[in-house]
Amino acid sequence: MSSATGIRSALSNYATGVTVITARDGDGLCGLTANSFTSVSLSPPLLLFCIGRARASFEVFRRSETFSVNVLSATQKHLSDRFASSGKEKWRGIEYAEDEFGNAIFPGSAATFSCRKKEMVDAADHMIVLGEVLGFREDRKHSPLVYCRSSYCLPVDLDREPRPAA
Ligand SMILES: Cc1cc2nc3c(=O)[nH]c(=O)nc-3n(C[C@H](O)[C@H](O)[C@H](O)COP(=O)(O)O)c2cc1C
Repeated sequence: MSSATGIRSALSNYATGVTVITARDGDGLCGLTANSFTSVSLSPPLLLFCIGRARASFEVFRRSETFSVNVLSATQKHLSDRFASSGKEKWRGIEYAEDEFGNAIFPGSAATFSCRKKEMVDAADHMIVLGEVLGFREDRKHSPLVYCRSSYCLPVDLDREPRPAA
């Protein structure tokens, strides 16, 4: 196993949520699936994600002053698949609303965060994009989607009391 393959495999044990991060390019919409998303601080509320420089959408995120994060629910695996692909067709048939910045937010997301971009930091073949949260929404109707060992999963609450036998 090459060291890159080994590191990727070891890192895949770190379970994450799944997001689709959106921005605007003039009249055009832009979005990509990202699991590098994380919160940074609460006061002020800062979060980040990493974007590969080779991504088709990289220039849009570099130019845009805002971006919005959709934290996907378990009902939205199809959105993760779609936005992990490239090209104009990725928006075909996708239902979305627009937030205060005109960025796409998807109905049924577990949470959404509307952010003003604060900083972009060089990180080898990626850039770290830091944003300040100016608006957010939460919907607890569905479980969040989880990604672990290259598979989509559901969260299991290990702290919940086991159900009594019927
Ligand atoms: C679960 C998952 C997580 C991903 N996370 C990231 C990420 O954090 N950053 C990134 O640049 N690409 C990530 N990708 C890859 C992009 O979603 C993919 O390259 C996509 O085609 C980018 O869209 P674009 O080509 O329109 O820019 C991820 C893909 C998957 C399936």
